[in-house]
Amino acid sequence: MSIENRPWVEKYRPRLLDEVVNQLGIIRRLKQFIKDKSMPHLIFAGSAGTGKTTSALAMVRELYKREMVVNRTYLELNASDARGIDVIRTYIKDFAKARPPVNIPFKVLILDEADNMTAPAQQALRRTMEKYTKNCRMVLICNYSNKIIPPIQSRCVVFRFASLNDNDLKSRVRFVAKQENITLAPGGLNAIIEVSRGDCRRAINYLQSCGTISKKIDQEIVFRVAGEVPPDKIKEILNTAIEGQLQLSIKLLDDLIKEYGLSGQNIIKNLHREIYDLKIQETLKIELSKLLAEFEFRLSQGGTEEIQLQALLAKIVLLQNSE
Ligand SMILES: Nc1ncnc2c1ncn2[C@@H]1O[C@H](COP(=O)(O)OP(=O)(O)O)[C@@H](O)[C@H]1O
Ligand SMILES: [Mg+2]
Repeated sequence: MSIENRPWVEKYRPRLLDEVVNQLGIIRRLKQFIKDKSMPHLIFAGSAGTGKTTSALAMVRELYKREMVVNRTYLELNASDARGIDVIRTYIKDFAKARPPVNIPFKVLILDEADNMTAPAQQALRRTMEKYTKNCRMVLICNYSNKIIPPIQSRCVVFRFASLNDNDLKSRVRFVAKQENITLAPGGLNAIIEVSRGDCRRAINYLQSCGTISKKIDQEIVFRVAGEVPPDKIKEILNTAIEGQLQLSIKLLDDLIKEYGLSGQNIIKNLHREIYDLKIQETLKIELSKLLAEFEFRLSQGGTEEIQLQALLAKIVLLQNSE
């Protein structure tokens, strides 16, 4: 694959620790390890797209100041049970045994998706860790550190990567968009942030997918690509029902179902997400929430979607009129 058509998440993966956003405390400590040429075993824990793999690779790159080392030191463990333990017994052990480079007293092994390792594989890893600590430090990357067996946890310093906040996500998405000559309408940027939920990889992937549709990205495109319903449309349905316009709200709902092909359950979920954002009284929000729970249950019991959803809207109309 040529450099040009690499996925943007790879193309714009920060190469230096200083380019990683949002994880200041962690980055500061990693830089100190590099300066001291000394580090403990590490666990990087946190949800997807927060910079765990990126930071581990950047650290190794800065530590050894040589590109070629980076590939050799990185291992992705999305392995099946059997391979998990084989990999530990062969590759990892050989790697850990071999002598470190001249100017750094240890090698670094990055094990990505470490929480996919079975308990026996982790036991084997623990023994390797113990035996070759002098030669080899490990960085175990996982979503949840409690998936790592306690004897490994107790040998590691755990760094928890927080989800990116909206501003950091925005600045990263803006940066990539600028490099790729994409114009972001303000609604478009906000929509990308909304559908990405703190996951920077997802945000950049959405940007790229939208970019294949148009060089100017607005809210419509983002929600279409993400397969999500624009919040405004959901709010409109709720508001028309609250205002007592039953026929109109049913029509809007029909249009939405046709356009987005949503299931009844999915519609209820979307409605639920928007009620707290509506400009209505708190008591009404509570009533709405109860109603949605009731209709979600009815659907789960096999009620006909069209009938149930219309009944739901009718009940919303009645809620207001009975006050
Ligand atoms: N903290 C961050 N700062 C800058 N870019 C980030 C950050 N986190 C994720 N990214 C972007 O998202 C992509 C995936 O990040 P990665 O480090 O692989 O996430 P994970 O935490 O799942 O290992 C990177 O290529 C990069 O473009
Ligand atoms: Mg990763």
